[in-house]
Amino acid sequence: MECVLYGVGSPFVEDVREALVRLGWTVRGGVANIETGFRPARFAPIVGRDEIPRDWLALPVVLPLVTPGHRWSLEREVLELGFQSFASVVDPTAIVASTTAVGEGAIVIAGAVLAAESTLGRLVCVNKAAVIGHHATVADYATLGPGCVLCGSVTVGRGAFVGAGAVVNPGVSIGANALVGSGSVVLRDVPEHALVVGNPAVVVRNGIAGYNDVSVGDPAGGTRP
Ligand SMILES: CC(C)(COP(=O)(O)OP(=O)(O)OC[C@H]1O[C@@H](n2cnc3c(N)ncnc32)[C@H](O)[C@@H]1OP(=O)(O)O)[C@@H](O)C(=O)NCCC(=O)NCCS
Repeated sequence: MECVLYGVGSPFVEDVREALVRLGWTVRGGVANIETGFRPARFAPIVGRDEIPRDWLALPVVLPLVTPGHRWSLEREVLELGFQSFASVVDPTAIVASTTAVGEGAIVIAGAVLAAESTLGRLVCVNKAAVIGHHATVADYATLGPGCVLCGSVTVGRGAFVGAGAVVNPGVSIGANALVGSGSVVLRDVPEHALVVGNPAVVVRNGIAGYNDVSVGDPAGGTRP
């Protein structure tokens, strides 16, 4: 399998590349969509968005970014440029139940555990060693930080971000574009566009855009609460 990495300006691209190496995939090249930022050293070529070779457009794209709003906006950019599809990348060291559904373009990094009947939506990102409980649902574009634990039947909303090492209790719902701080213990539902932190997690900010101050928009194109 061969793919193109689009949006290589985050060091997270190296973790994604490790998954691709373990899968035996080939990276045709990377696209730097912004002029500044991280530049991976271990694969070439890296081209600007105006220099993409035409034959790359037939390959599936991987978006190696942890910010939900960035993956959401780059999805549109990539399709407008003429790419056709997104690759789902599941590191072979992850444990994925036979009944788990993985959406198009989802990225699952090393050591993650996806339990029975769990569901990952489109362009979801599951970082290192995150644990997703049985019957948990992670909606489109959401990101799970390294080592976080979603207990059984948790729901993570569209574009939400769960920080590193956070624990979300059974059955709890995290709203769309909400942000759970690292190490938080979430006992109650979190409203959309809210920031919760602490143990027990409490809302410290409402009306935030989302992680890194960007939102995942609704299908009609809105981006703010
Ligand atoms: C939640 C987070 C985004 C907040 O960042 P921020 O918008 O800059 O907000 P602030 O640092 O101003 O924090 C707001 C308040 O919450 C507290 N806070 C922030 N993060 C916290 C955390 N993880 N646990 C407990 N309290 C936290 C701050 O101390 C501050 O409290 P104060 O107002 O009493 O001083 C950030 O701290 C965080 O946890 N990011 C997750 C990073 C991560 O997991 N990355 C994974 C890589 S994929």
